Amino acid sequence: MTDQGVFSLPSTSKDSRSQFRQSGCRFWIKRAFDCGAALCGLIVLSPVFIAASVLVWLSMGRPIAFRQQRPGRFARPFMLLKFRTMSDGRDAGGKLLPDADRMTRVGRLLRATSLDELPQLWNVLHGDISLVGPRPLLMEYLSRYSPQQARRHDVMPGITGWAQINGRNALTWKEKFALDIWYVDNWTMMLDLRIVMLTFMRVLKRDGISRAGHVTMPEFMGANVAAPLKSRDRDVGVKMNLCIYCSGGFGKEVLDIARRLNRAHSLWDRIVFLDDMREESSFYGADVFRLEAARERFGAAAMQAVIANGEPFVRKALLEKLDKAGIDTASLVDDRAVISETATIGAGAIIFPGCFVSSMAVIGRNIAIIAGSTIGHDTVFGDNCMVSGQVNIGGGCSIGSESYLGMGAQVKEHTRIGRAAIVGMGSIVFADIPDEVIALGNPCRPMRPNINKRIFG
Ligand SMILES: CC(C)(COP(=O)(O)OP(=O)(O)OC[C@H]1O[C@@H](n2cnc3c(N)ncnc32)[C@H](O)[C@@H]1OP(=O)(O)O)[C@@H](O)C(=O)NCCC(=O)NCCS
Repeated sequence: MTDQGVFSLPSTSKDSRSQFRQSGCRFWIKRAFDCGAALCGLIVLSPVFIAASVLVWLSMGRPIAFRQQRPGRFARPFMLLKFRTMSDGRDAGGKLLPDADRMTRVGRLLRATSLDELPQLWNVLHGDISLVGPRPLLMEYLSRYSPQQARRHDVMPGITGWAQINGRNALTWKEKFALDIWYVDNWTMMLDLRIVMLTFMRVLKRDGISRAGHVTMPEFMGANVAAPLKSRDRDVGVKMNLCIYCSGGFGKEVLDIARRLNRAHSLWDRIVFLDDMREESSFYGADVFRLEAARERFGAAAMQAVIANGEPFVRKALLEKLDKAGIDTASLVDDRAVISETATIGAGAIIFPGCFVSSMAVIGRNIAIIAGSTIGHDTVFGDNCMVSGQVNIGGGCSIGSESYLGMGAQVKEHTRIGRAAIVGMGSIVFADIPDEVIALGNPCRPMRPNINKRIFG
């Protein structure tokens, strides 16, 4: 099974130049360099390791290491290791204190010298990250990137990177991501060596460790931040229109959900359908417009769209049309669905009543999850997927972009379903399903390639 695209983000990373740059023997040369350098580093710096561990233990107790799930190459999650720099201090109500109050003196010293990053040499040896690459950020950010920014995951993340030597935390997110993408497009081994050298110089000069006013970077809220349950520009008087793209049976169901939400929360001034095929000007009591006509009438800035189509590749194509037209996608989450506070819901997602999205699950961009489905903890979706009704997905699964899960499918925990895979209704998935297949039955097995990429004929 290829690992490409299983966690594909807003970009189609398969076609990008960058993936080509870091592949084949060039990838293995980079890997060999990483392993050699990490091993030397671990040996040479072992006294520093021991000293830092003792300092952390004396000042903050155990655990000495801070472990956090981060997205690696193609956004595959791994556990990032660091020395702990903050205490677990809480206020009277048991809530964690702000970062600045929890940062200890030892922590400050470790951060100022960048020694807190040392345990990542182990991540390098393990193959999770490289010495050089875009920094692996939080899982929550995955669905917030623009298609261009998401390309930072086409290469191995790294301990240091082009953004780090060009300003580190003194940069805005936008500037950082622009530098990451430059690195992705221009990567060579020589560039890596240059970055390693410049990093040493920067660290010695202690440049740009924290951004002014923040102990660490402020949270990245996203380039395509979804506007769930909120009419974005209401307070400046712009009338928002929710546009349901496709006026079919699925569209009817989405319209019901949207109308109900609107009655309860007054989110939009108007709810309409977009449809480039339908001749009638009204469907199920709502006006129908062609995309261009709606854009001319309302203006892109006053439109939020959701896509009511069950074919993943149609979802993808329509999303591209919306992106091109400069129309934002809203995420439409029914308030009878239960969504964990730690789950991430991408822009354009539609979540039907009775769904349960569990802790740390990542629902990528433009995904539809139909009534009564359960998404287990830490399960990560790519984009444009379709989950039919009553599907159960166990914890820690990964579902590739443009995949389709038929009614009542059951997916065992920690299973990977490839990109553009169709899992037939009622299937019981016990083992990984590769990319681009139609898989059926109990146990669910690939039956044939998914050639025409259509589910409904
Ligand atoms: C997987 C799926 C797309 C296959 O459709 P298809 O290519 O048209 O397949 P066919 O209907 O031609 O069936 C081919 C064979 O597979 C069998 N089959 C089809 N789907 C099956 C399934 N889910 N489980 C077990 N066997 C299945 C058929 O009985 C048929 O067997 P036969 O050759 O012995 O007669 C379809 O069955 C499916 O699951 N669709 C999703 C429906 C759904 O979830 N709708 C929700 C709307 S929200």
